[in-house]
Amino acid sequence: MELPFAESFRIKMVEPIYKSTKEERLEWIKAAHYNLFNLKSNQVFVDLLTDSGTGAMSDRQWSEMMLGDESYAGASSYFKMKNAIKTILGFDYFLPTHQGRAAENVLFSVLIKEGDIVPGNSHFDTTKGHIEFRKAEAIDCTIDEAFDTAVEHPFKGNVDLEKLEDVLKKHGDKVPFVIVTVTNNTAGGQPVDIDNLKDVYNLSKKYGKPVVFDSARFAENAYFIKKRNKAYADKTIKEIVLEMFTYADIMTMSSKKDAIVNMGGFIAMKDKEIFDKASVYNIMFEGFITYGGMSGRDMNALAQGLDEGTEFDTLESRVEQVAYLGQKLSEYGVPVQKPFGGHAIFIDAIKFFPHIPREEYLAQTLAVETYIEGGVRGVEIGTLLADRDPVTGLDRFPRLELMRIAVPRRTYTNNHMDYVAATIGNVFERRNEIKHGFKITHEAPILRHFTVKLERI
Ligand code: F0G
Repeated sequence: MELPFAESFRIKMVEPIYKSTKEERLEWIKAAHYNLFNLKSNQVFVDLLTDSGTGAMSDRQWSEMMLGDESYAGASSYFKMKNAIKTILGFDYFLPTHQGRAAENVLFSVLIKEGDIVPGNSHFDTTKGHIEFRKAEAIDCTIDEAFDTAVEHPFKGNVDLEKLEDVLKKHGDKVPFVIVTVTNNTAGGQPVDIDNLKDVYNLSKKYGKPVVFDSARFAENAYFIKKRNKAYADKTIKEIVLEMFTYADIMTMSSKKDAIVNMGGFIAMKDKEIFDKASVYNIMFEGFITYGGMSGRDMNALAQGLDEGTEFDTLESRVEQVAYLGQKLSEYGVPVQKPFGGHAIFIDAIKFFPHIPREEYLAQTLAVETYIEGGVRGVEIGTLLADRDPVTGLDRFPRLELMRIAVPRRTYTNNHMDYVAATIGNVFERRNEIKHGFKITHEAPILRHFTVKLERI
């Protein structure tokens, strides 16, 4: 018989997790004002809030930690990271930052001014936050297929070239750059095809615009290209990654994802002028250019993580575990974004709760019920996350209302995935008993989902 898939790693260290009771969870979530960010981690059994900074480092990464060089300037760890960024990603210049949004903050300080327009494919919330904070506007040019969770399209993260050209034609002088998020997190961890990356690059060049990749999950994106674009089936992940980045001038990176570290980020660029300008902000906001918010040991682990994270075996274990979870959920009839994303499964809360109005925060309702049912923590990617319209002050209802369950890398077993699927399956079975969602009792003016307080209706 054909041998089943098995991970190409074994476990050397374990961390106990507490199995709570439903009664405990009902109390805890109420005390947390129905905001899952307010829970203590030991109140959560399987934590799928994010795959960011929550993965397990390898023995090699831990060994690299011991070799970290903590010199303020010119540390060997900086050069290790520089070398990895050059050989794996192909960029000559880079600046370390403490995480992805810090990279956005530094880079956008150079590139964005008030009144600008930044087209892209479903900008991530911190990206959008940093654009809007500068009184500029993010325009979403993702293909329409991404907004129907039932449509099967191999590259739902793609940029719609017509939409992009429209923006470039209409607002050309106001566009500082085009940003492509790989994979497209907001649309469901969906990949962008390499042909699309190339087309976006060529179109942007036609209008004289630089292209920035928001690259948090670039390696998962490369895995999908290998799996779904026939011309790339025989290429290695590292070959695909190098080609992907030939279609970018600049990249921002949250290394907490595909570089499999707990903290870290960077900006990489091909142009020295942008590097020089960004260095000034990096020194102000992050730290001197050879550490920029990171310790030497973390830069070492990051360099090693970039290498491991772009190995086929690592990616296969990771992406196929997410698909395993998606498959189980589908078998229970739970409506999920298809095809399954690279880092997470996204559950369609509008289809889950067709009987509850949008105004009652459907995805948040699902996330709360999932927590109560089994101690599983997901996250709302919906109306709360979308914030209010900065002009009208009204709730913005995004085209999709999703609960994301993100799977940390190399952390949980497939038994955990079975448990998670059964938890959500149970909520799905009793969905008609859930008649109402939530209303807001307190919120911050920007990125409100982190601190929002809610009350049951
Ligand atoms: N870009 C994307 C596509 C992201 O998913 C994230 C973070 C960032 C930028 C910002 O990076 O957190 O290091 O500052 N995403 C996390 C998530 C928080 O849960 O998806 P950061």
